[in-house]
Amino acid sequence: MKVLQITGGKELSGTIRISGAKNSSVALIPAAILADVDDVTICNVPEITDTDVLSDILTYLGADVRRASESIVISPGSIQNREIPEELAKRLRASYYFMGALLGKYGHVEMYFPGGCSIGQRPINLHLKGFESLGATIEIIGDKYIVDAKELHGANIYLDFASVGATINIMLAAVKAKGTTVIDNAAKEPEIVNIATFLNNMGAKITGAGTSEVKIVGVSQLKGCFHEVIPDRIEAGTYTIIGALVGHYLKIDNIIPEHIEALTSKLLEMGVELEIGSDYLIVNRPSKYRPVNMTTLVFPGFPTDLQQPFTVLATRCDGKSTIEETIYENRFMHIPYLNKMGAKIEVSGSVATVYGPTPLTGTEVEATDLRAGAALVTAALIADGKTTITNINHILRGYENIVEKLTDVGAKIEEVEI
Ligand code: EPU
Repeated sequence: MKVLQITGGKELSGTIRISGAKNSSVALIPAAILADVDDVTICNVPEITDTDVLSDILTYLGADVRRASESIVISPGSIQNREIPEELAKRLRASYYFMGALLGKYGHVEMYFPGGCSIGQRPINLHLKGFESLGATIEIIGDKYIVDAKELHGANIYLDFASVGATINIMLAAVKAKGTTVIDNAAKEPEIVNIATFLNNMGAKITGAGTSEVKIVGVSQLKGCFHEVIPDRIEAGTYTIIGALVGHYLKIDNIIPEHIEALTSKLLEMGVELEIGSDYLIVNRPSKYRPVNMTTLVFPGFPTDLQQPFTVLATRCDGKSTIEETIYENRFMHIPYLNKMGAKIEVSGSVATVYGPTPLTGTEVEATDLRAGAALVTAALIADGKTTITNINHILRGYENIVEKLTDVGAKIEEVEI
């Protein structure tokens, strides 16, 4: 079994370079199959297990996939519309983007319910509602979805919740539909803009991405293109939180500062020293942290994906902080482990109340999901003594070269086989 062993208390300085966004890449790779002619080249793709699995699915479907470090070249010419094995589909959440992409290309898809972190129920009803509005019929057999359309046509689709996945999946299915589709109450996350730009580079006609109304005028053909993945705002935010705890002029480089403004404004409110440049920030830990109240929201609100590492920061605050999770029902799985390390956090429904400051002590903890894992790495870096984190596959799904990146700035962290 592989574990991470971290000895806390080291000051971190130097530069951490942020990789391409996981949540963009995992949609761009499936979207590539929509190209009717020419290769698709996507660069700045992080080397993490989630992007590896998606490349495996593409290869399984018959695409020629060539990967050279952070670039991936996909020739979709020889793709066949085959059912993706359940085992592959369940290895990550983003396998569901093959639903929209295969439906958009072939008018038919057979897919299993996706996997991903256990942080709540995570239904896909809004994706299915979108496909139905575009003219598809849906049959559900056990865990398998058979989605079929004689012809996809444009439609007006209102999303009850501004879902990232549903917005992207509907864009993928609608991009070649006959007529115009309008998604109302669309998600506004930067990843949506990145995917829409990619599809437009392929010849699609999408406007309004990044606002709550996305308009897609269907086109008959799409071609390959060259595209760059945006920097990962959640990786950037995670390392910024770490810098706020143990950073001494720690530079977080290759970021889009506007994408993490909800975090940086909270950090400033807490007394963290930040210098924000055009594509970087420099963070210093303060001697005292003011307590905060934070609520997760859809973009541009505070991202749920940073809630778990942010909770660790609250353990350092002078007094009572509250953290409210509004996006998922079950994203507090890191808290029992933080309490085991010495934190004093009470959970009541969707609110965690953190009483600080409390020193943390190293012990054995388990990464129950990706961002819980990021929170435990963060906690281990400030804890007294050694922390052993198990179930680290979750962490490696989403953070490229995390051990190397932290080691390079002075952390004592090792991946060990026990
Ligand atoms: N929801 C529904 N029905 C749907 C779709 C979503 O009820 O059809 C609910 C979900 O259950 C959840 C909420 O709406 O409670 C938000 O879901 P959303 O669809 O926006 O999220 P997602 O597409 O499943 C992506 C990221 C998540 C990130 C969220 C929110 C990927 C692969 N995943 O998930 O990333 O938390 O958007 O920003 O892009 C992570 O990286 O750790 C992660 C979980």
